[in-house]
Amino acid sequence: MKVGLVGVGRIGALHAGTLGDLPGIDTVLVADADPGRAKVCADRFGLTPAGSIDDLFAARPDGVVIAAPTAAHAELVGRAARAGVAVFCEKPLAPDAAGTRAVLAEVEAAGVPLQVGFQRRFDPGYQAARERLRSGELGRLYSVWACTLDPAPPPAAYLPTSGGIFRDCGVHDFDAVRWVTGAEVVEVHATGANRGADFFAAAGDVDTGHALLTLDDGTLVSVAVSRYNGAGYDVRLELHGSLGTAVAGLDHRAPLTSTEPAEPAEPGTHQTDTPAYANFAERFAAAYVAELAAFADVAAGRIPSPCGGADALEAFHVADAAELSRRENRPVRIEEVRR
Ligand SMILES: NC(=O)c1ccc[n+]([C@@H]2O[C@H](COP(=O)([O-])OP(=O)(O)OC[C@H]3O[C@@H](n4cnc5c(N)ncnc54)[C@H](O)[C@@H]3O)[C@@H](O)[C@H]2O)c1
Repeated sequence: MKVGLVGVGRIGALHAGTLGDLPGIDTVLVADADPGRAKVCADRFGLTPAGSIDDLFAARPDGVVIAAPTAAHAELVGRAARAGVAVFCEKPLAPDAAGTRAVLAEVEAAGVPLQVGFQRRFDPGYQAARERLRSGELGRLYSVWACTLDPAPPPAAYLPTSGGIFRDCGVHDFDAVRWVTGAEVVEVHATGANRGADFFAAAGDVDTGHALLTLDDGTLVSVAVSRYNGAGYDVRLELHGSLGTAVAGLDHRAPLTSTEPAEPAEPGTHQTDTPAYANFAERFAAAYVAELAAFADVAAGRIPSPCGGADALEAFHVADAAELSRRENRPVRIEEVRR
């Protein structure tokens, strides 16, 4: 199988290493808006520089992985669709819901499979949490807590194109909540704060945001996102049910310190001397491999997409609702932003 990779920055370079090692993929063609960068990446992982992006599509790959910046996603996904090629795209598919709908229409018309990069669906902890809930082991679900806490903010220049903290970070939590619980979000009430660098407020964004979601079965979900978490990269999902609690992300590298005097330091508990996760690449290493292995199966026609365009759009609606709620300081029903 021949796969193309477009964009080899932070996440694209990670995907390059993974694609080069996946069984069943013979050739990985690498392109970037900066051909020099594509060449360096290809050389590093023993892959094939495609030349230009045009050259990559002309080589008729079986699938294309898009890891270019968000602003380029819709154009590149549309291009893959018109070429009849299976496509994997990092989130989000477009900067806004209208753009997302337009690109999904193109994908649907072309009939190509599309997988969106919500890697938490491939994380063993999130998968086990989902399984425990669905098996009945946790009983009736009453409360869900989720968080994405980055150790340090992105560069100031990134913010105006990010869509805001709920679309950029929270969207992963929103997708995970839908996927793990099997329920839909019907209402969001969100707020935010700026206590860090001035450039967040200058971009109309916040450095920390909290969103309270109400699911269609009445379950309440709290989602916390922040650009400032000095202890490390903390991504968790907690399910609190009548028969038990399950926590994804609470392992020996979670950046948490107990204040209890008699804290056990067993493997699997959250207080050891092991360094905390520093970033998404460390925390979700296994998940990034598993999602691209799944995409190889999707491109080969062996499985349907495990995370398609409708999922991407729904998570985006929740993020839109959170952003609107924060700005207008009022609860927002999902129907309002779905229009
Ligand atoms: N799933 C995740 O956990 C995760 C993590 C990080 C980033 N992302 C997403 O991945 C995307 C890329 O993020 P990043 O942090 O790797 O960005 P980046 O800025 O580090 O890298 C982007 C790369 O794309 C290249 N590029 C720019 N414009 C291009 C174009 N039109 N066509 C082809 N290549 C182009 C740049 O030269 C650069 O090499 C973003 O949409 C982001 O939201 C997802």
